[in-house]
Amino acid sequence: MESKVTKIGVLTSGGDAPGMNAAIRAVVRTGIYNGMEVFGIMRGYSGMIDNDIVPMHSRSVANIIQRGGTILKTARCKEFFEYEGRKKAYGNLKKLGINGLVIIGGDGSFRGAHKLSEEFDIPCIGLPGTIDKDIAGTDFTIGFDTAVNTAVEAIDKIRDTADAHDRLFIIEVMGRDAGYIALHSGIATGAENILIPERKTDIEELVNGLLEKERRRKLVNIIVVAEGDRGAEDVADIIKERIPSADTRVCVLGHIQRGGAPTCMDRLIASRMGYSAVESLIEGRHNVMIGIVNNKMHYTPLEKAVKAKQKISDDWLKIVKILAS
Ligand code: ADP
Ligand code: F6P
Repeated sequence: MESKVTKIGVLTSGGDAPGMNAAIRAVVRTGIYNGMEVFGIMRGYSGMIDNDIVPMHSRSVANIIQRGGTILKTARCKEFFEYEGRKKAYGNLKKLGINGLVIIGGDGSFRGAHKLSEEFDIPCIGLPGTIDKDIAGTDFTIGFDTAVNTAVEAIDKIRDTADAHDRLFIIEVMGRDAGYIALHSGIATGAENILIPERKTDIEELVNGLLEKERRRKLVNIIVVAEGDRGAEDVADIIKERIPSADTRVCVLGHIQRGGAPTCMDRLIASRMGYSAVESLIEGRHNVMIGIVNNKMHYTPLEKAVKAKQKISDDWLKIVKILAS
């Protein structure tokens, strides 16, 4: 028989994402509501290894739902890749009697959690917290909506100045190997071209399209490029060489996309997922990632959550082509 989860640890790991605080708050308050002791593990797996673990109370998470970043801090931790690091981390959890974990992070963090749960038999629940939305088993990840809205706001502003000067802007957005931020923000801002790693860019087609627009005296163009595709500077170099008359500028949005107050959507999914993480531990639904699919909670075994990526629908790619023509 599985033992009852009575003391849980919550941590944020990998790149931070707006809404992580809302998720921490939900885990802490749902845990306390159910009579559990809740601990905050600082700086992701680093704090687990360094024994930087603090008791959390209802008041510890007051006034944070609206804040970006993460009150628990986050980190990337090399030692956790090694068995010895994980053993040390588990030793610290054991000393405190922590017998359940909630890990808020991306697929890398889930890979670590999966190993820990297999090696030391501690139940782990993953919550998808990443602006990249590059995790299968969920329609949205915590932080994606905020990041996309930040990108949209920035691109709208860039279009104002692009329009005033008849310029071509190449705007690079984040997303690691995934093109979701580029795709969503590009469609929402009416970008003329969107370059994403999931679809091979035909440079000839891109240049010919721009030349055709130039012939039609359409001089304002916004090209949104995902960082996982080729870099914005690379694209600019090609365009400057092939179309010297185009007044071209580059803007890399960068880490601005990771900060700021989470949107209502991110606060909501983070709260639902955090609540569901604790419920899952109580119900014995262990070693799963909690997602939301078709507005319902969805549970994916951790080992599957780390392997699969979301797929970009062909329909979306068609929309980009038609609307930008
Ligand atoms: P994200 O969770 O945002 O994808 P990372 O890929 O940087 O971020 O992973 C965060 C942390 O998770 C790493 O620094 C490491 O501590 C842990 N981790 C990632 N992959 C593994 C792995 N294969 N084995 C053990 N730990 C891992
Ligand atoms: O995974 C989130 C993310 O912001 C990616 O979009 C980006 O490639 C990466 O993290 C940047 O990482 P760092 O925090 O190391 O600059």
